[in-house]
Amino acid sequence: MMIGRGDLAKAVSLSIALSCLLLTGCYRGRPSEDPPIHLNPNMDSQPKYKPQSEGDFFLDKSAMREPVSGAIARENAKDDSEYYFGKDNRGRFIAESPIPLTEQSLDRGRERFNIYCAVCHGRVGDGKGIVVEKGLLPPPSFHEQRIKEMAEGEIFNTITNGLRNMPSYRHQIPVEDRWMIIQYLRALQLSQNAGINDIPGEMRDSLR
Ligand code: HEC
Repeated sequence: MMIGRGDLAKAVSLSIALSCLLLTGCYRGRPSEDPPIHLNPNMDSQPKYKPQSEGDFFLDKSAMREPVSGAIARENAKDDSEYYFGKDNRGRFIAESPIPLTEQSLDRGRERFNIYCAVCHGRVGDGKGIVVEKGLLPPPSFHEQRIKEMAEGEIFNTITNGLRNMPSYRHQIPVEDRWMIIQYLRALQLSQNAGINDIPGEMRDSLR
């Protein structure tokens, strides 16, 4: 059979029209129940168990195993009670911070105190922070005898767990920083009741 030029032109335009029709069916964003076409699946889909899913291998039908009873995740091994809880192994508050006092730790304590505590307790710890000006019931001054005599473990406990109107800061302030804040709190207590004899000799003249 001979195909004329006119027939060829017709066939071409027909196939263009058809493919236009077909292609309009593929526009993006069309919702579909079918899985997407995945030309090169490689090893993308592998049989596996997801956490908390069911499985047939173990008798209890759970794909996951329970940790051995009494197991503690490594990052939760808080075996040093003084450091992590401010208490000795009989549960009493320790009198003094378990970390060494250095210039750096005191600096960091001051920085953290001014970020986290000063808003309520005031920069010098007198309990007159800006939140108190806005209406919070005033916290006690750190220069009260009771708090000057308070065990450092108890202050640590207050920062960790909060106390009555004071919220807990366990999530905002890591353990090490809590102890450094306490060092600075002690420095504040000294500073507010210091006499000229507490100043190193060579600095006295500049203050007189
Ligand atoms: C949102 C305000 C607020 C912030 C921030 C805050 N405190 Fe307090 N704090 C209080 C209040 C209020 C009290 C008094 C609690 C009470 O007796 O009801 C208090 C009490 C205390 C006491 C005395 C506890 C006692 O036995 O009387 C200590 C010590 C203390 N805070 C330390 C800190 C330290 C350290 C920080 C910073 C890490 C801090 N607080 C941050 C509000 C605050």
